[in-house]
Amino acid sequence: MKLIKSKDYAEMCQKAARIFAAQVTLKPASVLGLATGSTPVGMYQELVKKYDEGKVDFSAVRTVNLDEYVGLSGDNDQSYRYFMNHNLFDHINIDKANTHVPSGLAADLEAECADYEAVVASMGGVDIQLLGIGNNGHIGFNEPCDCFPVTTHPVDLTESTITANARFFATMDEVPKKAITMGIGTIMKAKKIVLMANGKGKAQIIYDTIFGPVTPQVPASVLQLHPDVLVFVDEEAYSVIAEKCTPEQLATIL
Ligand code: F6R
Repeated sequence: MKLIKSKDYAEMCQKAARIFAAQVTLKPASVLGLATGSTPVGMYQELVKKYDEGKVDFSAVRTVNLDEYVGLSGDNDQSYRYFMNHNLFDHINIDKANTHVPSGLAADLEAECADYEAVVASMGGVDIQLLGIGNNGHIGFNEPCDCFPVTTHPVDLTESTITANARFFATMDEVPKKAITMGIGTIMKAKKIVLMANGKGKAQIIYDTIFGPVTPQVPASVLQLHPDVLVFVDEEAYSVIAEKCTPEQLATIL
């Protein structure tokens, strides 16, 4: 794993966007694995800026997203499909037919998951996968558990996630209780992985991810076993590493 420090969120997003822009420039038909959440928003804005300046052409790019809520249609403003359209796809010259987010409305969830794995495989796998990280080390919706889930699968959302999401919906019945997520195995098959984390709240889990034991209790720790991972952090997310790591440990990641 290689760590790239930035002084703040804006700089971190600029640096991460350069990696994605370079990927698309070098291979115009790249398969990008994408994430939602607050972390990548600034990175997507930087990519839109580069597109507006004529620096990147997304016309041949294909994308696959990590996850989606079950029960929400793509035009629901809480769905991850809506998020992707709104934050990135609507602002660049990508063909939306080449963008893939699991369907939250599939009648047969297991079949939808198997189809999604097949879509990823049919594209020849993911060239570069973007990840955010939960405070508990989750990546995608792969929460801490006793084993690493391998393929795309349905997950029951935890009570705390359901409660946290309730504020976005008119009634409790509308709050999603399930999601579909790529598995850890799906994520690990990507040729290159970019993990982004900012803010103090992510500092401990970034330390555990890079220097702790590889355990499904910290799902992101599995990334230690991937040969090509870039971790982008701002100063706050770097703070526990700065405090706890020996110079020898730092030399292994900087
Ligand atoms: C998003 C995703 C999640 C988020 C994570 C961090 O598609 O799969 O794992 O990356 O929950 O979320 P933020 O960026 O909001 O802190």
